[in-house]
Amino acid sequence: MQVVTNSAQLRSIVKQWQQTQNTIALVPTMGHLHAGHISLVNIAKTKSQKTIATIFVNPLQFNQATDLTNYPRTLEVDLKKLADANVDLVFTPSTEELYPQGTTLAPRIEIPMLGDEFCGQHRPGHFAGVCTIVTKLFNLCKPDVAIFGEKDYQQ
Ligand code: PAF
Repeated sequence: MQVVTNSAQLRSIVKQWQQTQNTIALVPTMGHLHAGHISLVNIAKTKSQKTIATIFVNPLQFNQATDLTNYPRTLEVDLKKLADANVDLVFTPSTEELYPQGTTLAPRIEIPMLGDEFCGQHRPGHFAGVCTIVTKLFNLCKPDVAIFGEKDYQQ
């Protein structure tokens, strides 16, 4: 399993995989992995030749600074679980790597109206944060398929 923190390196591996006719499945996560995440990886593995999992605690989708600070970060344990699940590549970038101009100035994807429904009513900006990071991850990983958990239907 390759562990990559750098977008340029990720892009080069993805390009190589595409040139050799491999399909790619993406499982985006914020880490602190449990059996549900591993079940998503297992689904991903049935749908593609290569599986990428991402671990990134996305500051843009947190409304409360304390929630972001207190979010559990368990990288070593997560990497072991993903290696055991035979993931091909884990992308675990820093905040600076994905938001080089900082999170305040970062361009974002707003979803008019829909983003203000359900828990969006109580979490202003949350869905814009989710849509922004998912778009970035799609652009970097260029997956043929992405696997999300059931709670993410809403997202
Ligand atoms: O559901 C999550 O874990 C996150 O919202 C996601 C989809 C990984 C985006 O940061």
